[in-house]
Amino acid sequence: MEKKKMTCGLTVDEKIDLVMGKGYWNTLPVPSQNIPTIEMADGPCGLRKQTGICDHMGWNESLPAVSYPCGSAIGSTWNRELIQRLGEALGEECHEQNVQMLLGPAINIKRQPLNGRNCEYYSEDPYLTGELAMAYISGLQSKGVGACVKHFACNNQEKNKNNLDTLVDEKTLREIYLYAFEQAICKVAPRAVMTAYNKLNGEFCSENRWLLKDILRKQWNYGGMVISDWNGTNDAALAHENGLDLQMPSGFDKTHAYMSQALKNGRLSYEALNTAAENVAYNAAEQHRQWMQQEAVKPDWKKHHQLAYEIAVEGAVLLKNDKNILPLDKKDKIAVIGEYGLKPRFQIQGSAMVVCTEEDIPLSEIEKYSIHKPMFAQGYDTKNPADNDLLREEAVRIARKADKVVLFVGLEDGEEGETVERSFMGIHDSHRLLIEACARVTSNIIVVLCTGVAVEMPWEKDVPAILDMHLGGQAMGSAVAALLFGERNPCGKLAETFPVHGENMPVYINYPDQGGAISYYEKVFVGYRYYDTKKLDVLYPFGHGLSYTKFDYIHMAVDRCKITDADRLSVKVNIKNTGNRTGSEIVELYIHDVRCSYLKPEKELKGFEKVYLKPDEEKTVTFILDKMSFAHFEPKIHDWYIESGEFDILIGSSSRKIELNKRVFVLNTRPMPLDYTEESNIPDILADERCAGAAQEVLSDILDRTEHVRELQKFSRVERRTGLAGGTFRKLQNLCPAIFSDEIIAGYLKLINHTEEI
Ligand code: BGC
Repeated sequence: MEKKKMTCGLTVDEKIDLVMGKGYWNTLPVPSQNIPTIEMADGPCGLRKQTGICDHMGWNESLPAVSYPCGSAIGSTWNRELIQRLGEALGEECHEQNVQMLLGPAINIKRQPLNGRNCEYYSEDPYLTGELAMAYISGLQSKGVGACVKHFACNNQEKNKNNLDTLVDEKTLREIYLYAFEQAICKVAPRAVMTAYNKLNGEFCSENRWLLKDILRKQWNYGGMVISDWNGTNDAALAHENGLDLQMPSGFDKTHAYMSQALKNGRLSYEALNTAAENVAYNAAEQHRQWMQQEAVKPDWKKHHQLAYEIAVEGAVLLKNDKNILPLDKKDKIAVIGEYGLKPRFQIQGSAMVVCTEEDIPLSEIEKYSIHKPMFAQGYDTKNPADNDLLREEAVRIARKADKVVLFVGLEDGEEGETVERSFMGIHDSHRLLIEACARVTSNIIVVLCTGVAVEMPWEKDVPAILDMHLGGQAMGSAVAALLFGERNPCGKLAETFPVHGENMPVYINYPDQGGAISYYEKVFVGYRYYDTKKLDVLYPFGHGLSYTKFDYIHMAVDRCKITDADRLSVKVNIKNTGNRTGSEIVELYIHDVRCSYLKPEKELKGFEKVYLKPDEEKTVTFILDKMSFAHFEPKIHDWYIESGEFDILIGSSSRKIELNKRVFVLNTRPMPLDYTEESNIPDILADERCAGAAQEVLSDILDRTEHVRELQKFSRVERRTGLAGGTFRKLQNLCPAIFSDEIIAGYLKLINHTEEI
């Protein structure tokens, strides 16, 4: 199908209608021009197709579909293949419910733990986010359903998000906040990109020319459709002028009139309207074609429920298991405490909310494994908090009688999810009091965390085991029972750091915002990039997660010790299951830059593999590293760049537990132009290996020329070297104008800047 031809026959009014969508979830069909409609629906962790009253907050009914675990659980699986299957399953569900484009995945970076919407997002790490996003999109699009990655970009807090100005430098954007989008867009081409509500560097994301035109269209060569978040357009004319294609939802006649007026008064150009209309028409047609090509498969809802179970199992993180209190014994007398043991809280509030097909109840599932009927106490009442004291007392009574207590706690509705910003990092207060009360009468407590965000745990030392189930989706109940009894072996790892307390987070003194703007002063030091560089104690590090078996990292090898930026490096790691249960281990690969000319995080994740091992089994895991594994984003050239030098390849079982390492040298064959000026510091030039020879030549010349200056004669050559070469060329010139003319300084700079890199 040829682009740029589909809207030729449309009137201006029709083009305006086309870029304004149809109703709440559709693009506008124009049958006379063969432009079909496509229908959209949320969302990232399950399908929310509405057929009655529509909304963008999950308030009204939607058709039943599977509620899969939240983004935090997806991130904690570190399993590309599994998340690809999630995409495929969502694709089948979309087909069944006549949805051509799903509004997901949601791939913003978890900048700070108080963002209530963190549960929707995968990780604090851009590489992990990007890999899982690509798996999700590939799976979904393989079923003929378009993906819409969101929210582009920097939707990192919910508070004031509708007008918040996020001020972020280019390097930080490219390395942290845009990285996963770049990977997804350039490698698996999602059908659409949804802009974020907030501003970025002074301009609303839906109107941000740099973001939408310079980066997305020009640099990443994106051919898909750019759509606004729901009611997320501010100045529609400006938005289309600067790169937005589709405003969603539609139904605002005022906007149509406004758009016509904007065309008349020149605020919106015909060219911009044509481009937006073409993009909508082309992508709707393309999407429709792909949808039609794909044979609809009736989703097997039971199988999809089983997939939700699989993701809940693989995403669960065993944070702590002192004295191997887990797995539980079938003969144990168990007390299940906490309302969530009976009425689980398993999904995200807001647009990601799903009406689920079924729901596993933890208490009933635990009962299936246990010889004795488990005791139960509600412990807290999410609807009637006034009863909590009595409920706590009852819980303590049954905790005393049990061999093991499984305590379900977390946050309550309204404390996390879309539009929520948390005011503190703890779990809900009545849940905390419950843990503390039970811990006074028994030391055999297993805490099951039911939240999608990182929490503080002042009670952590009082309990021997903690299992983080996140918001584990509709099959959370059966997943948690299987994990508790060892039917399944925990194999998830944290995709975000759990700091000791909120005051330690990198953004603490710069959050939430001042006067409607927030500067990302911590730059690339997000999550473990900050904690590990500062060597700050954390509660649980990024990449941490225990198993019921034990893995030994045996050996590591690289195929070369020296490579260039054009090469690929193969890294092999041997890992063995030395325990007595089958299990999976996530092998994490980080890069540490041994010496670089600017402040860089201590380490950065550049690879991971999840490997399944039977007892005594050993496997070799292979990683292929390339330029992007060693590069940083260099604002001087607006591109990715490697500074030649040594790098350590670290193999870890978490960001804080490095098991093996090897050092390699990476040579950049495409040097960055040197651009020293009269104002550059001479010591920096002398220390720059790329122009070391030329700089020494310049230095000798400076010293020779100043040999006979009367005022300087009392100084030795060494003293003159320190004094004269300690400043800038400009200072040198001011000191001895008769000797260092403009021509001489220009000559020095020419010599230095034209040196080839080593
Ligand atoms: C959310 C989007 C969602 C849209 C449609 C907005 O409130 O930010 O993520 O896709 O609503 O429901």
